[in-house]
Amino acid sequence: MKILAISGSLRAKSYNSAIIRALKIIDTNIDIYKDLDKLPFFNADIDNHTLEEDNSPVLVQELRKNIARVDAIVISTPEYAFEIPGVLKNALDWLVSSGEIVDKPVAVISASTSGMGGDKANIVLMNLVKVLTGDISKELSLCVSRVNKKIDNKGKIIDKVLLDELKTLLNNLKLTVKKGFYEADI
Ligand SMILES: Cc1cc2nc3c(=O)[nH]c(=O)nc-3n(C[C@H](O)[C@H](O)[C@H](O)COP(=O)(O)O)c2cc1C
Repeated sequence: MKILAISGSLRAKSYNSAIIRALKIIDTNIDIYKDLDKLPFFNADIDNHTLEEDNSPVLVQELRKNIARVDAIVISTPEYAFEIPGVLKNALDWLVSSGEIVDKPVAVISASTSGMGGDKANIVLMNLVKVLTGDISKELSLCVSRVNKKIDNKGKIIDKVLLDELKTLLNNLKLTVKKGFYEADI
């Protein structure tokens, strides 16, 4: 089973990116998307695709191909001013009209240094995923509070509960793929 993992943070020492790297250690079948910062701003004038061919910017084509070839997606996002980062929204905007993400299970993680775990960004992203894919199970969502106490300055997860939560989330994602997306509990 192939999974694409996306961190919504561009920060070099990002906790969300550390979570994504930890997921890849748990499951080596996970690929990490690395071009979030290079994607052009969404512009419908250059979103140029049909069912047969895609003449949109090359990095957009690659993002779409990456999404198309995986069974599931996991996103870990910071919360900026109660929202998801603009770069992450931008990437998702490119997927709205092309449809590769439709029917594909997405797990949503938000990680914040606050005690709320980026819960507002988590809800925003869950709603976006619902718009893009049609559905999302609550079992595919995780808020990580006080993340700076759970990941050390080398990006290693030092909190066993968080590690277990990530393993459970990944298992839930794989189970959702196996049992067929639309049979997932809502
Ligand atoms: C501009 C800015 C806005 C932020 N807004 C929020 C917020 O609304 N809620 C929250 O919980 N944390 C907020 N934070 C804290 C981030 O969640 C925290 O810095 C987190 O570690 C960023 O994720 P990263 O480590 O993956 O880069 C904000 C941080 C910045 C820099």
